[in-house]
Amino acid sequence: MEVLMVISLLFLGLLFFFCLLKWNKIKYSKKGLPPGTMGWPFFGETSEFLKQGPEFMKNQRARYGNIFKTHIFGSPTIISMDPELNRCVLLNEAKGLVPGYPQSMLDILGKCNIAAVYGFSHKHLRSNMLSLVGTPLIKDRLLPRINRYVKLHLRNWDGSTVDIQEKTMNMTFLISFKQITEVELSSIYDAFKFEFDKLLVGSLSLPINIPGTKYYHGLKGRKNVMKFLKELVERRRQSPVTYDDMLDILLRGGDSAYMLSDEEIYDQIIAILYSGYETVSTTSMMAVKYLHDHPEALQELRDEHFSIRKRKTAEEPIDWDDYKCMTFTRAVIFETLRLATVVNGVLRKTMNAIELNGFVIPKGWRFYVYTREINYDPFLYPEPYKFNPWRWLDNKSLEAHKHFLIFGGGGRICPGKELGIVTVSTFLHYFVTTYRWEEIGGQKIVKFPRVEAPKGLLIRVNKF
Ligand code: HEM
Repeated sequence: MEVLMVISLLFLGLLFFFCLLKWNKIKYSKKGLPPGTMGWPFFGETSEFLKQGPEFMKNQRARYGNIFKTHIFGSPTIISMDPELNRCVLLNEAKGLVPGYPQSMLDILGKCNIAAVYGFSHKHLRSNMLSLVGTPLIKDRLLPRINRYVKLHLRNWDGSTVDIQEKTMNMTFLISFKQITEVELSSIYDAFKFEFDKLLVGSLSLPINIPGTKYYHGLKGRKNVMKFLKELVERRRQSPVTYDDMLDILLRGGDSAYMLSDEEIYDQIIAILYSGYETVSTTSMMAVKYLHDHPEALQELRDEHFSIRKRKTAEEPIDWDDYKCMTFTRAVIFETLRLATVVNGVLRKTMNAIELNGFVIPKGWRFYVYTREINYDPFLYPEPYKFNPWRWLDNKSLEAHKHFLIFGGGGRICPGKELGIVTVSTFLHYFVTTYRWEEIGGQKIVKFPRVEAPKGLLIRVNKF
């Protein structure tokens, strides 16, 4: 009798799961949609996506082609690995393909964050952002400060073993922070960074807002970061002194005619600290890793930087003209970004039903512009899994290629691109001209969902 009960319950359970899957399949089987699977109701295929990463993408592509549907992070999503379609999506924000970052992430980054807005608000925030991080500012005001803090950060490494992942993260944050406010907040720098790190981790975690979760801590981190920023702005407004930093430009409204509200100022600061944090630090760490593994490339890079140093006195900082001479360094940075795939892709969502490549994508669906595979396209990059910075010198048009989407494309192309490259170049300049290093070895680097060394990347450093 009991055995029969168990069998019946098992049967009913299986039937229930089967019906759930079927119902989900029917729900998303509208005419005109690309092929693909939607997984379980609500959970979709998120866990497969996170567990298998690029393999999930490759398997689905093998079954369904370059454009397929799935359900990840709580939303029906189209994934595109089609370079032409990806470019077209990035160029067509005006047709209703706006940023589609999850609401949970935007709750932490702020509703006035540049990645959360579109239309006029985006136009204003972007022109303000460019007045803070664009080339004219880098030349005259940001580069001298990058010099100062990179040198400061690299002091006293001689003879020690350092975790280059931790070091590049600390350096990147310190530089961005000091660009925003150089003088004030120094005393509370550690506390501010602690809260910001919580915000960063929370923004990339599952949105479960209960005590103890990363998301919960992330929201707390935002609250505390906001408290620090409000105090900073208040203090700055009362100060009779004029400062030479980004906060000063923000409070004066920058070069743009549009004056930012206080809420926009706070979220703009968070956007600068956030967008350039992991991207720049991971690129710096991975460049150190690839250069260590490729002595020929390291030698050519060293030669480039020593020839710059020869023209200067020992303490003289590098300037814009020196930076412009760093052609091999730029190639190393692009090759690092490509091979490590620091950014896998970007998210958009549809404001209305839209026809793309013969498919009809319903309103409110997410669109994952997956750019990772383009980085390993053998036609664009022969021997794509080889670290070969020279390819960027041999084929100068690679950087301007229409499928080069490492910094995004269209109206949202990264406004911090040049600042990011200048920061990594300056770090490499002082690092390779001051130190030799050896990896302690054996530490794993994972490339998905983000590039990181889960247990750090230890190197032993000695001065020349
Ligand atoms: C190697 C370094 C970097 C890489 C690979 C990178 C990559 C990207 C990519 C792919 C996008 C497009 C996002 C989208 O279309 O949704 C983007 C946007 C953005 N990046 Fe960067 N980035 C880097 C450094 C920086 C730095 C240093 C800053 C500092 C200000 C910055 C600020 C931004 C901002 C504010 C946006 C949003 C632009 C908008 O929505 O109009 N990035 N970045």
